[in-house]
Formats: sequence, C-alpha cells, structure tokens
Amino acid sequence: DDEVALMKDGAVLCAILAPTQNAEQAAAFASRNITAFAMELMPRITRAQSMDVLSSQSNLSGYKAVLDAAEHFPRAFPMMMTAAGTVAPASVMVFGAGVAGLQAIATAKRLGAVVSATDVRPDTKEQVESLGGKFVAPDSDESGAGEGGYAKEMSDEYKAKQAEMIAEALKKTDIAITTALIPGRAAPVLITEEHVNSMKPGSVIVDLAVEQGGNCPLSRPGEVVDHNGVKIVGH
Ligand code: NAI
Repeated sequence: DDEVALMKDGAVLCAILAPTQNAEQAAAFASRNITAFAMELMPRITRAQSMDVLSSQSNLSGYKAVLDAAEHFPRAFPMMMTAAGTVAPASVMVFGAGVAGLQAIATAKRLGAVVSATDVRPDTKEQVESLGGKFVAPDSDESGAGEGGYAKEMSDEYKAKQAEMIAEALKKTDIAITTALIPGRAAPVLITEEHVNSMKPGSVIVDLAVEQGGNCPLSRPGEVVDHNGVKIVGH
C-alpha cells in the first residue's frame, strides 16, 4: 500500500492484483489516477496465451507443492524394495485438477507415488487418467462445470456426499494437495478439521488455496502448521 503513494500520477500498472479481494487498493489506484491491469483476469483465449500469468504460476505452484510435500513427508515417495522388506509407495491425493492440480499429479507420479485426484468438473476425469492418476468422485450426476471452464459452487447435497468420499479417501492418503478454487469466491472447504484428525501422523497437506481462505480451515498463509503430527503447508 505504501508503494501506491510512491507511484507517478497517471502511471500504468500491470500485475497480479486480485481486485475483488483488495477493493481498498483498487480505490487507491483510482484516486492516484493509476490505470491498473489485473493480469490474472486476462481472458484465457489463444491470442492472450503469452500473457496468461495464472497458468504459468499455477503450473509452477503445482510442481512446487509436491516438492514441499516431499520435504515434510518422513518417508520416500517410491516403493522401496529391500532384502529386509518392502516399504509401500506414498499415496498422494490431489483436490482440484485444474492447471496446478494436473501438474501436481504429473510431478507426484514422476516421483513414484500412487496418485488419485478429484474435481467437480466431469471433463477432468479423462485428464487425470491421461496422467496415470485415479479419478475419484462422489456418486452424483451434478456437474460443477461453470462459465469459462471454471468451477461453480456445488449443492449442499453434493457437498455432503463429497465430504463422505473425502473421509474415506483420506484414510488411505499420506499426502493431500489441494488446489480447488471458485472464481470470485472463497475457496471451498474440502478437508475439515475432523478429516485432518483422521489422518495418520506424518501425513502432509499442502493447501495451495490458502490465500483464498484455504481448502483446509487449519492452513495458514506462509506457515507450516503441525496438527497432531499432520503437517499443513500454507506457502
Ligand atoms: P482454478 O484454479 O480456478 O481451480 C482449480 C480446480 O479446482 C478446477 O479444476 C476446479 O474445477 C476445481 N474445483 C473447484 N471447486 C472444487 C470442489 N469443490 N471440489 C473439487 N474441485 C474443485 O482452475 P484453473 O486451473 O485456472 O483451470 C480452470 C479451467 O481453465 C480449466 O478448464 C482449464 O483447462 C482452463 N484453462 C484454459 C486455458 C486456455 O484455454 N488458455 C489456460 C489454462 C486453463
């Protein structure tokens, strides 16, 4: 905010600005006669692809989320076979199979994990499977496909079924990577405190939606929270 005061009257600013979450800052730009372009609102059309900052950053964060999880996970990702016995591969579940989620699936697979993923948009099933992931979803005909390829808010009935499905899935999950977003709204809560309590100590959650409120209410921006031995990464 103090940098706005240093800018020239009438300047042009191009950056990731999140104006719907930073209305006061948007007003400060207006009062200084600054023309501000929120790059993340660039339409995702072919002509604008080289300016699509959301995709480039989401892609990187999906990759880095897996590296962060590996750092905090006390075991290795691949199956380890030794004369003394076999250690099972890490089980990774990815929530939200958009740009970040698909890159997380691919990265976790390359490290040797067993990967599953869920999303509310039916199109993502084929995309998850094409990367070698297993697609899991609640038993429902409701589609979460909203405008422009983004997700929409789901019905309470779907959310209840999804919570049950997640409770079952998390019992077998070592690492959860959450990327679920709905444009212009708070991130949907997918992993509740009760869900976290059911996870094994040593498990890791990486919440990439932390700045939009988080897919897990226990995540904190910029922190690694330890909840009964479960690490919740909010970088
Ligand atoms: P996003 O960052 O807005 O959301 C991430 C994912 O979370 C989405 O796949 C969404 O369906 C999912 N999600 C939302 N609520 C959920 C819930 N309650 N439970 C489970 N999953 C939930 O999405 P992103 O990564 O920006 O991609 C959105 C769309 O844009 C995709 O269809 C993608 O293919 C498309 N796209 C198109 C581009 C282009 O044409 N140039 C470039 C990049 C993306």
